[in-house]
Amino acid sequence: MKLLNFIGATVFGSATLIGYGIYDGNEKVYSNLLIPIIHKTMDGERAHNLAIFMAKYGLVPRERKFENEQILNIRVFDKKFKNPIGCAAGFDKNAEAIDGLFKIGFGFVEIGTVTPLSQEGNPKPRVFRLSEDRAVINRYGFNGQGHDEVLKRVDQFWKNRKIDEKILGVNIGKNKLQQDALSDYLTGLKLFANKCDYITINISSPNTPGLRSLQNRKELENLIDPVEFYHLLLEMRNKLDKKIPLVIKIAPDLTDEEMKDIAQVALRKNKQIDGLIVSNTTISRPDFLKSELKKESGGLSGRPLKTISTEALKKMFKLTEGKIILIGVGGVESGNDALEKIKSGASLIQLYTSMVFEGPIIVNKIKKELIELLNKEGYSNVSEAIGANVYHKNSK
Ligand SMILES: Cc1cc2nc3c(=O)[nH]c(=O)nc-3n(C[C@H](O)[C@H](O)[C@H](O)COP(=O)(O)O)c2cc1C
Repeated sequence: MKLLNFIGATVFGSATLIGYGIYDGNEKVYSNLLIPIIHKTMDGERAHNLAIFMAKYGLVPRERKFENEQILNIRVFDKKFKNPIGCAAGFDKNAEAIDGLFKIGFGFVEIGTVTPLSQEGNPKPRVFRLSEDRAVINRYGFNGQGHDEVLKRVDQFWKNRKIDEKILGVNIGKNKLQQDALSDYLTGLKLFANKCDYITINISSPNTPGLRSLQNRKELENLIDPVEFYHLLLEMRNKLDKKIPLVIKIAPDLTDEEMKDIAQVALRKNKQIDGLIVSNTTISRPDFLKSELKKESGGLSGRPLKTISTEALKKMFKLTEGKIILIGVGGVESGNDALEKIKSGASLIQLYTSMVFEGPIIVNKIKKELIELLNKEGYSNVSEAIGANVYHKNSK
């Protein structure tokens, strides 16, 4: 009996300590305990489901307060963002954990990609951790519950939102079997426009056949000319009561020509796109990858994507002459990485894969480091650093 009591007390004590470690955002609880156990015992998709479960029920580290944290406040799309660090699309595909993600300290959350109808996505396994490379390959293929289910949750969040600093983006896509891509995007746009702060048109997932061709004017498989596609989307957006900011998410694998085309469309007078997200995952496989899993097909994210996506970001900043809001994504795992994206032209940044390897405490860590760096370099606000490393026509 005594032994049972002792075991019970030990289990309870450990659980309490771990629970407190989670709540308090103790780095060691994540790096020495939770992440190694999860990575040993669960494949990528199970671990992802667990992370969503924990965020949904608030079992996440709380946001820390930092001295001079207002240095991270930034106005974008005419909204105040508490900080420029966002949760990238694909993590909370079905809008189940929005509140939990804000609790961690993200300045904005992008849910989705959401498709009109629910769909299974590709066969499992479809998410792979390349631990030696601090990378992930995924070929989920827009698995998700579809517009109706997701809308219910987004609606709930939107109604209960007390602080309008909780900036919500909805990332929309098309169903695999839908031939008429435009129609799926228009449906998503109309449905979510009144219930979020911006909408992302995801035309850059490598896991839906033909989708990426919407970035390329010359692709034969296109049923619609991409320029016409953007034109019709913007026309629809301009007809809506609320002028919801429209953002296009692009791949990091575009040629210079394709980037130029997109920049041109983005800059067109009267029908301007509000922002570009640079970038989605890459289909390339850099030579330096060590993991055997690099052979898996799908989109590569995380550390090996960092330089590729930052180079694309710089190019886009130059091409759009600093006139379009850019959101920098790909391999951000430190304050330094975040600042590099910002100096390369990003007004906001997002992350996903670094959470896989470091857990949700990464958000507090990046904020702390970014504040320190900005202070050290003499900036009084993060917005002053945007594009600092890139020459463009409008550079002062
Ligand atoms: C498992 C996984 C699923 C993803 N799903 C989506 C998605 O549904 N829609 C989307 O636009 N991007 C998706 N992405 C891409 C991310 O939003 C992000 O652009 C990319 O991973 C680069 O950022 P990172 O290196 O910080 O992960 C996904 C990424 C991962 C790792």
